Amino acid sequence: MKITARAHTNIALIKYWGKRDEQLFLPMNNSISITLDQFYTTTSVAFRDDLKADSFILNGIEMGGHEVDKISRFLDLIRQTAGRNEYAIIDSVNNVPTAAGFASSASGFAALAAASTKAIGLDYSGSDLSRIARFGSGSACRSIYGGYVEWNKGVRVDGTDSYAMQILEESKWDLSILSVMVEARQKKVLSREGMTHTVKTSDFYSGWLETIDADLNLAREAIHGRDFEKLGTVLERNALKMHATMLGANPPFFYWTGATLDVMHTVQELRDSGIQAYFTIDAGPNVKVICQPKDEMAVKERMQQIQTVREVFVCHPGPGVSYIGE
Ligand code: ADP
Ligand code: DP6
Repeated sequence: MKITARAHTNIALIKYWGKRDEQLFLPMNNSISITLDQFYTTTSVAFRDDLKADSFILNGIEMGGHEVDKISRFLDLIRQTAGRNEYAIIDSVNNVPTAAGFASSASGFAALAAASTKAIGLDYSGSDLSRIARFGSGSACRSIYGGYVEWNKGVRVDGTDSYAMQILEESKWDLSILSVMVEARQKKVLSREGMTHTVKTSDFYSGWLETIDADLNLAREAIHGRDFEKLGTVLERNALKMHATMLGANPPFFYWTGATLDVMHTVQELRDSGIQAYFTIDAGPNVKVICQPKDEMAVKERMQQIQTVREVFVCHPGPGVSYIGE
C-alpha cells in the first residue's frame, strides 16, 4: 500500500547542539522549536516485493550513492521493527530549499517516518514516530508535532525516553518567523559534523551545557506566558551562545558571512527604533527573524532593503505530521 505523509520543518529557539550518543542520536540537551507553516515535505512510500533495492526520488530526481544509503539505513530500522524485508519506492517533494540551512532534513525524515511506518503496517503514536524520526536527523523528531515543541533529551542509555512533545498548540500563539535567505548554496560543514567537532574540541562547550537549563526554563515560561520580549531575548542569546561554541572549537569554524552580520545588525537597529524583533541562526549563514504579527510588514520591508539579502520568506507556527488522502 502506498502511504503519503506531510511534515513541516521547524526552527529551534533553544538549540540542539551536541550528541551524547552518535549511533542512537541522543542529544546532550533538551531543545525547543516552532514548527513552520510554509516549509514542508510530502513523501510517499510503498513497500513492494518485486524490488531489488530501495529507490529514492527527491524533487523528481532519482537519488543515488550516499543519499539513497541514508534512506535505506533508516528504512532498515523500520523493516527490522516490522519483521519485513521488502524494499520501497520513496517519492518525496520538498517545499523548502534542500540542504541550505532551512531544515529540509527535519521535515524530510519526519515525513519519511510517518509514511514508512504506516506503509509497512506499524501503528505508531506521535511519541513512537518522534523516537524513530530522530534516527534520520535529530531535529526531525520535533517536526512530528505542530506549534511549540520540546525534545526531551531523556536519560536512558537505550534512548527510549528521548522524543519530542508539544508544549503549546500552533493556534494558541501566533508569531511571525521570517526566513531571511542570504545564501542558497549547500553548506560546507554539515550540522552533524559541526556539532561533533564542537563537543570534542570546544573550550566553550562546558559553558553551553552549564547554562542550557536556565535558557530552557526562560523559554518555557515565556511560551506559556506569551511573553514575546522574554522569549526573543533568550532565543537570540541561545543562538549566539551556540555559535560561540564553534568559535571556541579547535580548529575554530563559523557559518556566518558578511550578509549574516548585516541582518543581525539590522535586527538590533530595529529594536533600537522600538520594533521588537530577534534573530536566530542554525548551522548556516541564513537568519530567521522572529517578531509579532503586528510588526511583520515593517520587519519584512526592512529586511528586503538590505543589499545582501536575496529573499525573505514569512512563516507562522504550523501543524504536525498528517497523512494525505485520508
Ligand atoms: P538542511 O538545512 O536542509 O536540513 P542538511 O544538510 O542538514 O540541510 O540536510 C540535508 C539532507 O537531508 C539531504 O542531503 C538529505 O539527505 C536529507 N533530506 C532532505 N530532504 C529530504 C527528504 N525530503 N526526504 C529525506 N531526506 C531528505
Ligand atoms: C543547529 O538535526 O541536522 O539546527 O541529528 O546530526 O542530523 P543531526 O543534526 P541536525 O542538527 C540541527 C542543529 C541545529 C539546531 C537545532 O535544530 O536544534
